[in-house]
Amino acid sequence: MSSLSRAANFCLFSWFIVLSGVKANIFQNQDSNSWYQDGVRLIQQNLKVKPNTRTARNAVVFLGDGMGVTTVTAARILAGQLKGNPGEETELSWEQFPWSALAKTYAADLQGTDSASSMTAILCGVKTNEDILGVDERVKKDDCSSLKEENKAISILALAENAGMSTGIVTTTRVTHATPASAYAHSANRDWEADADFGSSANAPGFNCKDIASQLVDFPYGNGIEVIFGGGRRKFLHQGQADPEYPGLFEYSHMKYEVNRLNDTAGEPSIEEMTEKAIKILQKNPKGFFLLVEGGRIDHGHHSGRAVTALHDAVAMDKAVAKTKQIVDREETLITVTADHSHVFTIGGYPKRGNPLFGLIKKVDNQHALDLDGKPYTTLGYANGPGGLNGTRPNITNVHTADKKYRQQATVLLRSETHGSEDVGIFADGPGAYLFHGVVEQQYIFHVLDHALCLSQSKQNSCYRQGDRRQVDINSAANEKLSISSMFAGILLLRVLQFLWT
Ligand SMILES: *[C@@H]1O[C@H](CO)[C@@H](O)[C@H](O)[C@H]1NC(C)=O
Ligand SMILES: *[C@@H]1O[C@H](CO)[C@@H](O)[C@H](O)[C@H]1NC(C)=O
Ligand SMILES: *[C@@H]1O[C@H](CO)[C@@H](O)[C@H](O)[C@H]1NC(C)=O
Repeated sequence: MSSLSRAANFCLFSWFIVLSGVKANIFQNQDSNSWYQDGVRLIQQNLKVKPNTRTARNAVVFLGDGMGVTTVTAARILAGQLKGNPGEETELSWEQFPWSALAKTYAADLQGTDSASSMTAILCGVKTNEDILGVDERVKKDDCSSLKEENKAISILALAENAGMSTGIVTTTRVTHATPASAYAHSANRDWEADADFGSSANAPGFNCKDIASQLVDFPYGNGIEVIFGGGRRKFLHQGQADPEYPGLFEYSHMKYEVNRLNDTAGEPSIEEMTEKAIKILQKNPKGFFLLVEGGRIDHGHHSGRAVTALHDAVAMDKAVAKTKQIVDREETLITVTADHSHVFTIGGYPKRGNPLFGLIKKVDNQHALDLDGKPYTTLGYANGPGGLNGTRPNITNVHTADKKYRQQATVLLRSETHGSEDVGIFADGPGAYLFHGVVEQQYIFHVLDHALCLSQSKQNSCYRQGDRRQVDINSAANEKLSISSMFAGILLLRVLQFLWT
């Protein structure tokens, strides 16, 4: 060793002594800091996380309709505040999952998507156009003749059915609404829920499209969907037919917002209760199950500019995910929580820690934050919607901003608040969940589900098919039809739902 390099080594050594000495001094205080210890704990916990590369027996997808990242943050604070805590430190059930990613939600023809095109991406693996579902972008809205067999997209639920698995849908909307419909229907218009909805489109020569409710009743894949819980009886009834209160389809239209549910005299179940019931029924099939659970009215609350209703529904979905974590075998069940799109919903303005989420902003000095005109403002707001301002912003000092009917202020006045175009979160646990990381296209979710369950031929060279499942050829899946007479099937479906629930 030359004297030069010896000198260099000595220098490095001295630096090491100096640095470690400095470190020890600085970290004496930090080591005992609870935030710091929290970080240390999380590192230890994350070092133990191992990708679960097994083939999933089951998959549950929780879809918070319109549950963008700001909604997740706000729901987390609300969940904590409902328990009497400041709120910000809360972890929602899916925030404890080890794997997550961001999904880009744009549609084939839109910068920011609607639920039909985004659910087609999530459940069928292809982006498509606004307002059409279960079909690719070659289908034109309202044009039945463009809905050809080769333009249909097969959903993960249909693949699971064809493989012999059990399948289910739980939603707080009508079961024929865009999100659930994308799991079982192919439609050139998301609003064609019943034949009364075709309007003038039905006058087109050769019109032979089926409405969404009929497609649910005549579902041609496997042996039919085993469990359907939600609202929307009206789309299954003929004109003038009396409305029977069948358990299974709990409401004539959408189910109630969580904030109104407890006052429902008919005693509507919560999303948590429906999810638990559905899983207990589906778990009976040894070949496994696929379940879609939609917290569908988070979206409706936001559209009406009422954050109280939207966020209580998000917290209700959190309970459904928590229950699911308890009752499934997490080693063999892929649980994915995501959203179809965001909303132009904001949370901010420097409220102090623990400031009531729905209240006016109070700063750390406990004084109201005031705008340039000396008027207070809320933590939550919208960029547009029915809470939009027309003229000067009103003074809301004495307004009850936590009321469930209160509309947060919005910049642009619109009849209905709009979706947001930014990315949404994907949170996952169980087999295949490790494939969610980074920023991904939304249709990637289908491909992770398909790989984890090892269903379609497109994944067969990279996954291990569970022995008792049939292999599915996605191109012939649509032709394996069952022959139920649709004449009796609507009534039959309602009877089966009643049997399931009671
Ligand atoms: C139910 O109704 C009662 C009486 O009208 C009301 O005080 C209460 O706030 C309502 N509860 C919910 C959850 O809406
Ligand atoms: C807003 O209303 C409160 C309560 O009535 C009042 O004290 C305050 O001065 C008002 N602020 C402005 C800027 O008008
Ligand atoms: C907005 O304010 C203007 C002027 O007061 C009024 O003419 C108009 O009707 C208002 N628009 C709405 C949608 O309330």
